[in-house]
Amino acid sequence: MKLVTSNKKRGTKTSSFGTSGRTNHDSTAFYTSKLYESLPKEEKVEYVENPIPPESLNKILQKSSESMDELPDNSVHLMVTSPPYNVGKEYDENLTLENYREFLKRVWSEVQRVLVPGGRACINVANLGRKPYIPIHAMIAEDMIELGFLMRGEVIWDKASSAGSSTAWGSWQSASNPTLRDVHEYILIFSKNTFGRKKPLKRENTVSRDEFLELTKSIWTFPSESAKKIGHPAPFPVELPYRTIQLYTFEGEVVLDPFMGSGQTAIAAIKANRSYVGYEIDFEYAKLADKRDKEFRLKFNSPKLSDFAETQKEPRGSAIPSASAVTAAVSGDAR
Ligand SMILES: C[S@@+](CC[C@H](N)C(=O)[O-])C[C@H]1O[C@@H](n2cnc3c(N)ncnc32)[C@H](O)[C@@H]1O
Repeated sequence: MKLVTSNKKRGTKTSSFGTSGRTNHDSTAFYTSKLYESLPKEEKVEYVENPIPPESLNKILQKSSESMDELPDNSVHLMVTSPPYNVGKEYDENLTLENYREFLKRVWSEVQRVLVPGGRACINVANLGRKPYIPIHAMIAEDMIELGFLMRGEVIWDKASSAGSSTAWGSWQSASNPTLRDVHEYILIFSKNTFGRKKPLKRENTVSRDEFLELTKSIWTFPSESAKKIGHPAPFPVELPYRTIQLYTFEGEVVLDPFMGSGQTAIAAIKANRSYVGYEIDFEYAKLADKRDKEFRLKFNSPKLSDFAETQKEPRGSAIPSASAVTAAVSGDAR
């Protein structure tokens, strides 16, 4: 019997036991199985990217994001947001669950229109109530999939020690009716049309090796933000949008927050050297976000004395005064 050999490496196949092999893994059978029949598929689409008019870029537009007609189709690289919860916060409306989902779907379909092919959408959401519990995260995921978004995954945001203040135990130390206390929220992550995005020429990645290893894990741990400190009832920490920006965009790209609140996404975008556009329906919050953007830019762009350290290393006897001497002279301290 002739033994047929091949130099070609044989790839692994998804088996009923899974596989630890990573090289040349053929998962076609899995992705063409009936399980995937009803889900949106990746599409072959040409990459298009339209510029956002300068009058809307790096601005917070005070209006409802149900219509984002200031933004051209295919003009945003990442959407990151936390939607209003419809639970009686001062900005919330008292909508039925069905109307609430319809309202959010109007926003998500605008997001879909303005995202570039391969653009990403990250939705931070907490579940509500206990009697019964409302799994809003599952409902939003279902609605996004129905709109045709490709789901990439979900992150559990472990709010760590900052979330331990709830004392709603239900029945204390008794099996009669103990209540779970959520110390986590979700970040649901989707793509438009395709999972991958080619790196455009002259746009760099800014994520470091260590950040990448951390951000690709499905549990993120960092504390929540103080509402009192920020002046908004439900701010997320800047770290949340910052993480998604670092992981999912290239430098200089555009980040959208359709529910901008206090402007945390704007600050994350500035920090990461990206542009942003935001919508906020409430005049006072839109004003707050705009003010926080200006204050942050001023601080962020102002050089510190330590930035001049290099110029202080002039050779001995140099005629050029050091930065500290100049500062002292300007402030009248040079004697
Ligand atoms: C959960 S908060 C977002 C907080 C924000 N992530 C931050 O860190 O400050 C939701 C925000 O959506 C705003 N909002 C509610 N309905 C809106 C709509 N139709 N269009 C735009 N903004 C809306 C609310 O006024 C509120 O500030």
